[in-house]
Amino acid sequence: MTECTQYAYAKLNLTLDVLNKRPDGYHDLRSIMQQISLHDTICLRLEEDSTWKLTCSDALLPVDSKNLAWKAAEVFCEAADVSIPGLSIHVQKVIPSQAGMAGGSADAAAVLMGLNRMLDFPLSSRQLLLAAQRIGSDVPFCLFGGTAFAQSRGEVLSRLPRLPHCSIVIVKPSVSISTPALFHLIDSFQIDVRPDHDALIRAMERDDVETVAKYMHNVFEPLAQRDHPEIGLIKQQMLSLGACGAQMTGSGSAVFGIWREEEDALCAMRTLQERYEDVFIAYPIENQ
Ligand code: C5P
Repeated sequence: MTECTQYAYAKLNLTLDVLNKRPDGYHDLRSIMQQISLHDTICLRLEEDSTWKLTCSDALLPVDSKNLAWKAAEVFCEAADVSIPGLSIHVQKVIPSQAGMAGGSADAAAVLMGLNRMLDFPLSSRQLLLAAQRIGSDVPFCLFGGTAFAQSRGEVLSRLPRLPHCSIVIVKPSVSISTPALFHLIDSFQIDVRPDHDALIRAMERDDVETVAKYMHNVFEPLAQRDHPEIGLIKQQMLSLGACGAQMTGSGSAVFGIWREEEDALCAMRTLQERYEDVFIAYPIENQ
């Protein structure tokens, strides 16, 4: 196989708790992560010549080794001990950048999976997960997919019951938040409320979307809202448009709301589109 197309699905954090800072500079975290249908598309092609080329539909993103899709191809070659002389990667972006939705990490995971498929599976699932860790903290989840509980840096993953059927509306405000800066800031911030992951998991087991939404919590949100009140405003608008719950994902700045009925979510999406440029609708991706 010399060509392959992979979808790269976005993630949302239903819960996110940041624990201690570790000696390696990263933080231990706990998070219930959900893969959603909003996706980029990655086209990979093995070329006859001996150069690597990356193209991207978003002119603002890097097209060299600074792009995680490129880095993933490098890490794949090392991990599988193969050389790929000529390679072209095209990244068709849909997932907003600097949103807390793991857009770059999803692209990287899709490159790992695509190259593994094209080269007839030199890496086992476990080896792929180890390669993913070397690229970024969210890349292992993007490979794992579905609904999962993430611990440690984000790479220790366990399967959870599926999120009850629902529709998700996402707004990406124009403000961008630096992930390292937010992690740094939280070190000197008193976290008063932490998520109750177990209560949310029990609600998923009961297929109770309202209670799932009620237990969503992200410890970064109060910090991000302090500097960017727009985040709180979007959340309030989603709740007044009938969302069962709404919150910022990851280190932001995207905010998502959950609706039980698709019709209500579509109606809310249309209202939000009158106020914001980047508004999306998505659905949970089920465990594979
Ligand atoms: O792993 P990744 O490159 O995506 O992380 C980006 C930045 O986010 C890290 O450089 C670090 O500052 C912060 N981070 C962290 N703890 C984590 C994940 C990310 O401190 N578990």
